[in-house]
Amino acid sequence: MSDATPGSQGGAASSAGAAPGHGELLAPVRIGRSARLEGSLRLPGDKSIGHRALLFNALAEGEAEVTTFRPGADVRSSARALATIGAVLSSSAAADGTMRYVVAGGGTGAAACLPGAGGESLDCGNSGTTMRLFSGALAGRPLPVELGGDASLSRRPMERVAAPLRRMGAEMTTTDGHAPLHITGARPLAALVHALPVASAQVLGAVTLAALAAAGRTVIDVPGPTRDHTERLLAWMGVPITRNGLRTTIEGPAGMRARSLVVPGDISSAGTWMVAAAVHPSADIRLRHVALNATRLAIVDVLREMGADVQVIADDGGGAGPEPTGDLVVRGGRPLRAIRLAGPRVAELIDELPVLAIAMAAADGTSELHDAAELRVKESDRIALMVQGLRAIGVVADELPDGWRVAPGRPTDAAIETAGDHRIAMAFSIAALAGVAGTVTLDDGGCVDVSYHGFWDDLTSIAGADALEHLTGDPA
Ligand code: S3P
Repeated sequence: MSDATPGSQGGAASSAGAAPGHGELLAPVRIGRSARLEGSLRLPGDKSIGHRALLFNALAEGEAEVTTFRPGADVRSSARALATIGAVLSSSAAADGTMRYVVAGGGTGAAACLPGAGGESLDCGNSGTTMRLFSGALAGRPLPVELGGDASLSRRPMERVAAPLRRMGAEMTTTDGHAPLHITGARPLAALVHALPVASAQVLGAVTLAALAAAGRTVIDVPGPTRDHTERLLAWMGVPITRNGLRTTIEGPAGMRARSLVVPGDISSAGTWMVAAAVHPSADIRLRHVALNATRLAIVDVLREMGADVQVIADDGGGAGPEPTGDLVVRGGRPLRAIRLAGPRVAELIDELPVLAIAMAAADGTSELHDAAELRVKESDRIALMVQGLRAIGVVADELPDGWRVAPGRPTDAAIETAGDHRIAMAFSIAALAGVAGTVTLDDGGCVDVSYHGFWDDLTSIAGADALEHLTGDPA
């Protein structure tokens, strides 16, 4: 069996597959303006779909192959956790970056269950999705297990997952509300009627996975729209699950069939290049075979509202199972209008908000973001770090309790603190490429690997080799 988290993916990721945290080896990079952004990219496989395709097949009856392009450290954390419990039988990386995982499920007949003997310690790296989804899946496995992660993940709130899972009958302890988590699952769990306090697909997914091991109907309400990959994929694999508006209903106990899947490109990674092209005076970028799930398309709507030229060209899916796919083409050179983002759609944009701040900084007038307090409990406090970085690059920016206010300023050279957060690093790289900043020096370029393995190669292919300088070590 080969390693589920192959070091052959290279880069600055640690041997555990996670981005370096504070105190580990950092890989500073410098990014400058490029006269033109042009090219066509095949992006890494969608992170949200990748986690789920691996985990759900491990819960299912039978064996399936999950194929994904250049998976980032987060998805590799899920693969590694599954390898630890014996669910990933093999993984192989092709020279072009395509990864193939063969996953064998522990489910039988009408019961979805993870394999393993219990007593495992799972390393979730930097990945909140791994920790939260696995918590739900392990709640229905009557064996003890520990889940831990890096320093950033260990600061993120976990009671929001633990509380409903305890009510369903799992024994679950957090460490003052955080990782490490200790879970001893139970079967059957009790079905639950539950209203989530936050619009979180990760928490919704966790309770949904526990509901597969529950006796009866579980009903989960969310306060706002969330991405629906869990519902789509489980239904496609044979689970009686429906989503109706903000309500998800699962009839438990439920089993499912393993099904092979080719994970399409990540629209959040696409968002980085969409903003880059929209902001740049001379740009033409095509992003091929991207997942075009309707719950993730708000980035397209917002950029169009701001005046950007964004085209969506659907394709035939290419083995992506229940997920719609297609190409995105964005051309630059149009003036952008300021925008006010607030209300339910903020949750649909949650991962794109850092890079959208760069579009706001290039727009004509003052833009605002509200209702985004969740950004404070992501891989970093993204509100504080974005505002700090925006000011450093010369943008006029104010921090709000639940967002920011941004207006254009005078582009300035700056050193940017990423706190090891991949989305902060990519947002400020784009700011430099497109001239919203002067030259930007990131304290850590390696952290982009969390969601976007190969980002620096793609950046030089779009912007030219002169746009990037690795200050120490190897490129991520
Ligand atoms: C994800 C959901 C989002 C998102 C994360 C991936 C998922 O988090 O920020 O990158 O795959 O379910 P929340 O649902 O907690 O907001």
